[in-house]
Amino acid sequence: MVVTRRLPEPVEQELVRLFDARLNPEDRPLSPAELAEAAGFADALLPTVTDKITASVLGVEPLRARIVANFGVGYNNIDVAAAKAVDVAVTNTPDVLTDCTADLAMTLMLSVARRAGEGERHLRSGSWTGWRPTHMLGTKVTGKTLGVVGLGRIGRAVARRAHHGFGMRILYYDAMPVPAEEVASLQAEQRSLEDLLAESDFVSLHCPATPQTRHLMNAATLKAMKPDAFLINSARGDVVDEAALVEALRSGTIAGAGLDVYEGEPSVTAELLTMENVVLLPHLGSATSETRVAMGMRAVANLEAFFRGDPPPDRVA
Ligand code: 8YV
Repeated sequence: MVVTRRLPEPVEQELVRLFDARLNPEDRPLSPAELAEAAGFADALLPTVTDKITASVLGVEPLRARIVANFGVGYNNIDVAAAKAVDVAVTNTPDVLTDCTADLAMTLMLSVARRAGEGERHLRSGSWTGWRPTHMLGTKVTGKTLGVVGLGRIGRAVARRAHHGFGMRILYYDAMPVPAEEVASLQAEQRSLEDLLAESDFVSLHCPATPQTRHLMNAATLKAMKPDAFLINSARGDVVDEAALVEALRSGTIAGAGLDVYEGEPSVTAELLTMENVVLLPHLGSATSETRVAMGMRAVANLEAFFRGDPPPDRVA
């Protein structure tokens, strides 16, 4: 098996104990050619969001890989159709990162509304001259309306925090049915995307990156938001047209944004770096020690099941 990046130590130890695992002690991202070499060399790949498992990686001949056990719940880094075509199983790591990712979405929401990043920069730069009643006034979060785009596992966890913790009214847009008891406990109201955008004070994205959701937030949908509303993205960069977002932030089409993910990670549109009304984090959604270990162990469980001949619990293709 080839493990493409460094993983938390307990996970690497478990991988070495259970499998013939080739680790990546330098933690250097593998090139497409190296990924293809790995697919020809190993019966399993354990990649992350930074590894593009493309049709050409899986097209290597002879192909030895039989399973791609992704470290992450999102698996848009993997060409699933290409994997199916060559009979390679694909698994992900759901559930174990739900809470931490939801916590991070709340962090973004609170930080951008209460100008936390801006305030910290202000203080660290030595510009703070003291308390005054009109200093750095932000936007109240409690009691506002949150529009959740994608009320799946993470979207629901965010909605629970927002509703039960911050007394927020929850609107949601989802193409998939949501369990009725979940909707009831959140007192969540279903909306079309257009209506959700028009009514929400905060819009938080929790849909997967698919061809259908690419640039879901674009010039037109950003314009459908309220001018005093905030956009939160802890899903995938591709869901937002970053150039259109920059324009919306610059022109006051929306009030601000909290972003954890970007279209061309790790590069970020330069203008965003100059704007005070955005909070920018480096893809930290699941980045806690507990969760990263749990994600690794979940990938291990998928690999163990697969090589035992059982269905991997998190098989997505
Ligand atoms: C990971 C994530 O950091 O799980 C996901 O989809 O975005 C993050 O939890 C990343 O994907 C690791 O591969």
